[in-house]
Amino acid sequence: AQDPLVIFMPSGKRGRVPRGTTVLSAARRLGVDLDSVCGGRGICSKCQVEPAVGAFPKHGVTVTEDALSEWNAVEERYRQKRGLKPGRRLGCQARILGDVVIDVPPESQVHRQVVRKAATARAITMDPATRLLYVEVAEPDMHAPSGDFERLKEALAAQWQVDPSTIRPGPGVLARLQEALRKGDWAVTVALHRGHADELERILEIWPGYHEGPLYGLAIDVGSTTIAAHLTNLRDGQVVESAGVMNPQIRFGEDLMSRVSYAMMNPGGAAEMTAAVREAIDRLARELAEAARVERREILEAVFVCNPVMHHLLLGIDPVELGQAPFALATSGSVTLEARDLDLASLTPGARIYVLPCIAGHVGADAAAVALSEEPWNSDDMVLIVDVGTNAEIILGNHQRVLACSSPTGPAFEGAQISSGQRAAPGAIERVEIDPETKEPRFRVIGCDKWSDEEGFAEAVAATGITGICGSGIIEAVAEMRMAGIVDASGLIGPPEATGTPRCVPEGRTYAYVLHDGTGDGGPLIAVTQGDIRAIQLAKSALYAGARLLMDEMGVDRVDRIVLAGAFGAHISPKHAMVLGMIPDCPLERVTSAGNAAGTGARIALCNRAARAEIEARVRDIAKIETAVEPRFQEHFVAANAIPHATDPFPELRR
Ligand code: FES
Repeated sequence: AQDPLVIFMPSGKRGRVPRGTTVLSAARRLGVDLDSVCGGRGICSKCQVEPAVGAFPKHGVTVTEDALSEWNAVEERYRQKRGLKPGRRLGCQARILGDVVIDVPPESQVHRQVVRKAATARAITMDPATRLLYVEVAEPDMHAPSGDFERLKEALAAQWQVDPSTIRPGPGVLARLQEALRKGDWAVTVALHRGHADELERILEIWPGYHEGPLYGLAIDVGSTTIAAHLTNLRDGQVVESAGVMNPQIRFGEDLMSRVSYAMMNPGGAAEMTAAVREAIDRLARELAEAARVERREILEAVFVCNPVMHHLLLGIDPVELGQAPFALATSGSVTLEARDLDLASLTPGARIYVLPCIAGHVGADAAAVALSEEPWNSDDMVLIVDVGTNAEIILGNHQRVLACSSPTGPAFEGAQISSGQRAAPGAIERVEIDPETKEPRFRVIGCDKWSDEEGFAEAVAATGITGICGSGIIEAVAEMRMAGIVDASGLIGPPEATGTPRCVPEGRTYAYVLHDGTGDGGPLIAVTQGDIRAIQLAKSALYAGARLLMDEMGVDRVDRIVLAGAFGAHISPKHAMVLGMIPDCPLERVTSAGNAAGTGARIALCNRAARAEIEARVRDIAKIETAVEPRFQEHFVAANAIPHATDPFPELRR
């Protein structure tokens, strides 16, 4: 009789295998993605499959009840001790006796697709660099002396087809090996790491007997203001715990350039900042692990993204060269290290660190991570991606070509340098509307679920008070003032007689618009002053000019869509950003927020080795435009000072 036909779903891979082949061997033979940690010993249950029974006319087979072997003792023991969902079999034990259709559920696939959270529905394909392998090692023999490590290598070669000449012990592993082997009765589980551009297989950790896992990694975004970290399960890609802390380097300088000058002026200053940031990251990692009840030994990888100055300070490199033209990076390539190189004691000592490549002296690994998350190189549309911080990082491109630059927007968009400005925190005004007839404002405050003119607002806002205005609030306020005719195209606030509202009050030789006078609630008076408008104009002109410069270089005068990245991008209203002329004209429904795209990019690189290779190759192809030395940048900047713009048309706003 013919050998039985096996069809694996969802991949659809099919082929004939000799009667009696296990499902796991059949999967391996046909290149089907079926997981195993114990190597087919009936311990790990990672190989679970769901055989189907019945007629499958589409596949041309009928599957009978006896297509798979009866439960054997190993499988039965597993079911009794640990339980198996109805309909599930252990792929390493069940043998194929007749034609069969076998479904591989997502959790049994190594390379399964994990849907990202947030706005984009795209998935991350799991392909982590570190895997768990259970291995049985030969006992030592006086008559054939060899080291425990050598016999472990032989076992890995025989049971997992790992080339023994490539295997290296990570720090501390040899010291624990002998105890682990004896405690586990000559069976151990190892965490074996192989990088995307690496010939070596590194044993990062070792456990006696069978270790269930999972393993974890950290995706870390080191920003100039905050450090955000996501503890991620390396098996299913899910974030188990996230947290952020202030970057302690703030005490050496608020923004990047002041930190560079701190390093220039103070001997040992760069080292001080390096120690501060590493310590904060280590503490953050420890807190995350504690919150998620994950042991230090189970955190085996970390991926970092950061802007160039943060990148250098994290790695212990003096950033002075980044403070002056030609803005040379010590290295623009990716960096691979061990946790101990960065003094990260909260991870296993040999945990592998991967720092994404930088794009240029001003466009860092954080921008590379945004690009990895948004993949402009796969876009048919001409897409503009803007990540706003104190520096805006701007990427423009499509499948043909991708350009990048950064633009010094300063901190105004974060509420700094604004008279009533504050960070986005409870009590901050975050949304503003102004009636074009009455010129009266209504607003919303973070932490309060009512608009200011709704009933019960006073009680609802009592918990937080009204303390100031944050970045998204000031952008909406200025845009609304423009639409209500309180501010003219040059950015000048009119006097009460011209604007028709007593809310325009003199302030020195100029005017300010009072958004909230604070008398009712005993809070501060919150106004938008002429100085605030000037600060916003400078910031938005810098952003617009950067985008415009890339459009010139690309030879386009319109973009098809705009992606706003970062925490700021998630809160900003596209309409107001466009009224202000922060971003070029584009259909409003094609302006979307990507959330924390840099963090997502870090997570992708953490979960998928191939993504690391991809971003390294893509970064080499991204053309960098240096705004600081580009004369047209200044021209664009001046023209963009008007609201929305002196010359560029905004037809979408007229719709
Ligand atoms: Fe481990 Fe089947 S491979 S139980």
